Amino acid sequence: MNWLPRPADGRSWIAPSLLSADFADLRADVDDMTAAGSDLLHLDVMDGHFVPNLTFGPFICQAIRRISAQPLDAHLMISDPARYVDSFAKAGVDAITIHAEVDGAIEDVLDRIGTLGLKRGISIKPGTPVSDILPLLDRVDLILVMSVEPGFGGQVFNPVAVDKISDLATRRQTGGHDFLISVDGGINAETGPQCRQAGADILVSGSWLFGARDRAARIDLLRG
Ligand code: DX5
Ligand code: ZN
Repeated sequence: MNWLPRPADGRSWIAPSLLSADFADLRADVDDMTAAGSDLLHLDVMDGHFVPNLTFGPFICQAIRRISAQPLDAHLMISDPARYVDSFAKAGVDAITIHAEVDGAIEDVLDRIGTLGLKRGISIKPGTPVSDILPLLDRVDLILVMSVEPGFGGQVFNPVAVDKISDLATRRQTGGHDFLISVDGGINAETGPQCRQAGADILVSGSWLFGARDRAARIDLLRG
């Protein structure tokens, strides 16, 4: 398992979302993003049920593991994460992020992820308040605040995420928790710095980073 500490004050780690990569030439895109300075890779797993789109599962994550040494966060937009966390662990990801909105015993799934030796992430959709995950703050290593409805890349940033990031940063400080705060969806030159200043440790960016002619410049700009 390979993971990141809290970034230096005023900086963020940058996580390209491979949803916007060219899957016909994935190795080239992964190598290029790594050379451009990415810190970890964000893998969007969709089941066509929790979200209305389908992407890939553990098999592709394992292939990505073979071509990258960067930390991998699997963002599971799936209805039944309990059923699949062992397979993702076997695929070699470093963190598994599940959604707070799924049915079932979320605590048990988070504990299982920890038992497998991986970092435990919880994600909340734009309509889910931070108050819904307060009992979990000591049980997670990562909180992924969604700034778009999960399901597709290239959507417009919802500013509700900024307040949630600030709220989580305050609670972490006062409560002595030590999770990382990440934000996902619509991150660009305008929204990325807003989230960083609010306290986001990881900025996930798909279409804006992959669509750049100069990816290193965009990563530098986001990182702070
Ligand atoms: C959306 C995914 C995001 C998405 C981000 O469901 O979770 O990771 O790929 O892409 P952009 O940066 O294009 O909004
Ligand atoms: Zn994502």
